[in-house]
Amino acid sequence: MSTAVRTHHMWREIVEQPEAVRRTVEAHAGSESRKGLTEVAKLLADAERLVMVAHGASRHAALAGRAMLEAVAALPADVSFASEYRLRPLPPRPKTGFVFLSQSGETADTLAAMRETKARGAKVVAVSNVAASPLAREADYVVLTHAGAEVSVPATKSFTTQLAALFLIAVSVAHARGRLADEEQAGLIGELQRVPALMQEIIAANEAEKVAMALDQVRAVLFAGAGVNYAIAMEGALKLKEAARIPAEGFPLGEVRHGSLALLGADAASVIVGDTEGQEHTVEAIRAAGKVIVVGENGDLKVPKTIAPLAPLLTVVPLQMLAYHAGARRGLDVDRPPGLVKAV
Ligand code: G6P
Repeated sequence: MSTAVRTHHMWREIVEQPEAVRRTVEAHAGSESRKGLTEVAKLLADAERLVMVAHGASRHAALAGRAMLEAVAALPADVSFASEYRLRPLPPRPKTGFVFLSQSGETADTLAAMRETKARGAKVVAVSNVAASPLAREADYVVLTHAGAEVSVPATKSFTTQLAALFLIAVSVAHARGRLADEEQAGLIGELQRVPALMQEIIAANEAEKVAMALDQVRAVLFAGAGVNYAIAMEGALKLKEAARIPAEGFPLGEVRHGSLALLGADAASVIVGDTEGQEHTVEAIRAAGKVIVVGENGDLKVPKTIAPLAPLLTVVPLQMLAYHAGARRGLDVDRPPGLVKAV
């Protein structure tokens, strides 16, 4: 492995993910430690809908979390950018749960949105990586991620631990709503407990190192994924922008033929994330348009199989590694994209 690979925080933090996810699951899933999550589940059990508010990678985590909550707990959720949410100061509707996500717990718009929602009389849940942050201190309920300190501006382990926390929330809410029996809840938590070892396989294989060569000359990259993997397509694009400064956007797979396909060609590439069932025509059209990297069970970047709601915890890892290697190959300081800071 090259020296650059060993000296960047982003790489170290990618590698720390299995341990970070394991810590987060242990902190919430043990019988003693489950109390906090049980309280949150009690609060949300009667909700008819959730409003989730965040920015950046935390908003992508919320979008993946929405898919988990809908699939596991049948609880519909809306996801908003905090800055946009603040422009729509509607009185909180009854039977609405509010979840504010910020790994730093300091993002000004997310914090202000939470304070405004509380001031309107709602109880709020925070998901944060920093217990001493204003977001975590002021929320009525907190679900902490246990990623440890994250230095690199491109977020990695703070993101996957948010996904683990959201899955645990989804499972606990489903249990509190009577949708999961005790053993079904334990089975789903067991699936989550397998994730760190599967992440480890992806990291050890490091297929992204070779695949990243395909991005050396490209001027733009389109990321596409369906369902829960749409969130990961957006997260993959965000990582590539930050770490490698390559223009990139994420789209729902079914949307690609409604415009962005026209931009593909010899000097662009596409990354298709996860399950493509029902979208074969779109995949064919993307392939016909130029270079394609597939992330999936039998893809160029292979991800081991898990249950659908947990797929994002795995599909995102090779995308983080791809962004890292693409940036390192361009000789960039992947940890410090110009103009960006860790907490806005
Ligand atoms: C900045 C960081 C991102 C992060 C976003 C939201 O843009 O560079 O990595 O996702 O803020 O931060 P938060 O701390 O609220 O999750």
